[in-house]
Amino acid sequence: MTTTTTPLRAGIIGTGAIAHAHASAIAELAPRIELVGVADVDATRATEFAERFGAPATYTDAGALLADANLDLVSVCTPPKTHTPLAISAMRAGVPVLVEKPTALSLAEVDELVAVNRETGIPALTVYQHRFGPAAMRLRRLVAEGVLGRPQVATCETLWYRPDEYFAVPWRGRWDTEGGGPTMGHGIHQFDLLLSILGPWTELTAMADRRSRPTDTEDVSLAVARFESGALATVVNSVVSPRETSRLRFDFAYATVEVEHLYGYTDADWRFTPAPGHEHLAERWIADGGDTPSGHTMQFASIVDALAAGVAPEVSIDDARRTLEFAAATYASAFRGRPVAAGEISGDDAFMTRMDGDGAPWTPVKDIPAPTAHTTEALA
Ligand SMILES: NC(=O)c1ccc[n+]([C@@H]2O[C@H](COP(=O)([O-])OP(=O)(O)OC[C@H]3O[C@@H](n4cnc5c(N)ncnc54)[C@H](O)[C@@H]3O)[C@@H](O)[C@H]2O)c1
Repeated sequence: MTTTTTPLRAGIIGTGAIAHAHASAIAELAPRIELVGVADVDATRATEFAERFGAPATYTDAGALLADANLDLVSVCTPPKTHTPLAISAMRAGVPVLVEKPTALSLAEVDELVAVNRETGIPALTVYQHRFGPAAMRLRRLVAEGVLGRPQVATCETLWYRPDEYFAVPWRGRWDTEGGGPTMGHGIHQFDLLLSILGPWTELTAMADRRSRPTDTEDVSLAVARFESGALATVVNSVVSPRETSRLRFDFAYATVEVEHLYGYTDADWRFTPAPGHEHLAERWIADGGDTPSGHTMQFASIVDALAAGVAPEVSIDDARRTLEFAAATYASAFRGRPVAAGEISGDDAFMTRMDGDGAPWTPVKDIPAPTAHTTEALA
């Protein structure tokens, strides 16, 4: 592990739920990095958070944090609609920025981030913490070495359960504030990991529906994708699945590699099965990650290592764009009823600026009449 004598100075914008994972990761990695300031539009929340994690400075304006705190890294942990403007402010202030998923609400927004990244040379990173578990890093290494043979087929399932009350938070379940449903908000973790293993996709066909949640966005989507390698994969994203699981399975020519977890995995959640005649490959799957979970700490450790070594940290804005394009193509294919090729959504395509393009093919929640006693009885 690389060591630095001076701790990196970290800040956090948005001190709600997920910010705790950022602050805990920073605390775990001390003294290589320290939390020096936080900002939240809610002053009370910012103060309580700063006290809890020992951050010396508190702001209600993200711009003031960026201008005053001499940061080496800032996390953006605010609702999705604010990610792009805050990430641009950070890059323009010269501060590498780690944005919570989804990076942006649309491909057009992510292209703004790409442009400012190119102009300033300041990294704009996205939190995709499941890329950073020991087993996922080992799998990427084995794939890069070519020892598993060609990828043939993969499955990727995010089958989660979010009750109606979860969507009472005003920014959730709406295209203009969350960007989408489980495709953008939940399954994106799993299919980002899938893409990080299988590489560029070329074409996909999808379906999406709002089965039962009080949302404008989908609550289920399914995609079938083809990759440049020739591999085929299915991707399922759901928030209506009572027995929750997150599952990925890769069938390479010489081995099956699979994981089942929920919100984070350790080595024990992975299984490696060599193909007949390739039993020797089991020796290459050395589960040496112990009980280290995939999570924010592992991604922060990777970023701190990269910044200390002066190399590009992960997950780059270009990688994040590929993942967001997969989400945009899922919606475009589902709503247009035809396959979508990688690179096809561009220019003035409606799916460049909104994940629902010209609108989802179901009634917005606000236009659904409130149930009457009669309809409630009929539904019971
Ligand atoms: N990586 C993961 O596993 C994971 C898990 C949960 C949430 N998330 C993502 O994290 C983000 C935040 O989610 P959350 O559940 O923590 O939300 P939250 O509502 O609990 O917290 C957001 C905070 O941001 C503050 N805020 C809003 N606008 C601001 C602004 N302009 N400047 C400063 N502060 C501002 C709010 O006051 C609030 O305290 C979302 O994008 C979500 O998708 C990621």
